[in-house]
Amino acid sequence: MTATARTSTARSTGWFPVARAAEVGTTPVPVGAGGRAYVVVRLRPGAEVSAFPARCPHRLVPLAAAAVVEGRLRCPYRGWRFDTEGRCVDVPSLGPHGSAPPRADLPVPWAVEERHGWIWLAPERTDVAAPPPPAAEPVPESAPAPAPPPGPVFGNLDPSLEHAWHPVALARELRPGGWLQVRLLGRTWSLSRGPDGLVADPPAWGVRERYGVVWLAPAPPRDVPLELPEDGDRRFVRGWLTPARSAGPAGPLADGFLDVAHSPFVHAATSGAADGVEVPAYDVAPEPGGFTGVQQQRSDHPTDPGARRGQRPRRRATYVLRAPFQLRLRLDLLDTGAARTILFLLQPEDADSTRVYTCLLLSAGPGEPLPGPEVVAGEVALAQRVLAEDLELQSRMASTGLPLVLRDELHVRSDRLGVALRRALADFAAARR
Ligand code: FES
Ligand SMILES: [Fe+2]
Repeated sequence: MTATARTSTARSTGWFPVARAAEVGTTPVPVGAGGRAYVVVRLRPGAEVSAFPARCPHRLVPLAAAAVVEGRLRCPYRGWRFDTEGRCVDVPSLGPHGSAPPRADLPVPWAVEERHGWIWLAPERTDVAAPPPPAAEPVPESAPAPAPPPGPVFGNLDPSLEHAWHPVALARELRPGGWLQVRLLGRTWSLSRGPDGLVADPPAWGVRERYGVVWLAPAPPRDVPLELPEDGDRRFVRGWLTPARSAGPAGPLADGFLDVAHSPFVHAATSGAADGVEVPAYDVAPEPGGFTGVQQQRSDHPTDPGARRGQRPRRRATYVLRAPFQLRLRLDLLDTGAARTILFLLQPEDADSTRVYTCLLLSAGPGEPLPGPEVVAGEVALAQRVLAEDLELQSRMASTGLPLVLRDELHVRSDRLGVALRRALADFAAARR
């Protein structure tokens, strides 16, 4: 019996046929057993089948999107790896000497067996040692959606979001005399730019323009505006990405923007590191309306000097958040003085839709000419590809919002910015009362 034995005091629930054995290879297959969601997979070609719960314990990413690497199941987001027993054997951001926290281990089903041409799961201990021959062709359960986190999440329709300025369009999308319709918090507004300025219909508490963006506040805002020191600084040139749309809530997108540990896995084809994935300890300072976190990093950005030769220039990364969803990342190359700032603004349109505004502000450093239009266009094109990689991952996350109860996920050293985001959003949600 190819059982993965686990001790359990729960009552027996029996054996469940979950998939034809011939259909399970080294790509995880989502299945259901006893109403629970799992994935089944062979960790090497032709090996015994292993079964895992459907979500990674770190940030609850569905493991149906995981990959088999060197006999382990690797989460697609930050590369945590699990052996056939569900033990977390690698957290890359902790470095080669870091060890995974105990809660990182996956609670695998009591037994997995391949018999009668089928894969069978026993989620809990059962008195029947092996699945009996089926009297007829088995009918597997359809795979349920991975279970949501038990506690509250901060979704795109949280009532507190009424009390914030939200980006709703690029200024250039609303020409003088023109109008457009936008979605925000599950509602439609018509915006027009007339002789007396911007107008919203139905009326909003306010509409304004700032940093090349049209903003709308449905009700008296309580957010703290994000400052953008590079705006108006003549050493910087700017380039907007084409606004994008994510089929999910804004919170996990903001979480990804604040996270460097995913780059080697999600952005390997564009801007991610090939190695050196450890994230050193760093500080996060709370501020009114959000926080700032500073990290010392090595750059793998392909257009940074030396990066193509594998020199990984030193840089300082300064992350700033103003709740709910205004973010700024400034990357200072310490050896040349060049700087790249990324402004990242999220428009919570509907529960499952977020519009994404991204602006690059680029400086070549002291005494250097401004980056020319070709350089800016190249950087914007690269950033657009990086964003597409993030959105592709988001589309597989099956998230309804960012969990506000820290224990519903698992946080390690590299997640301090993510933890600060969850606290800032929890504070923002609580401030409405
Ligand atoms: S490693 Fe799986 S969600 Fe982060
Ligand atoms: Fe990313």
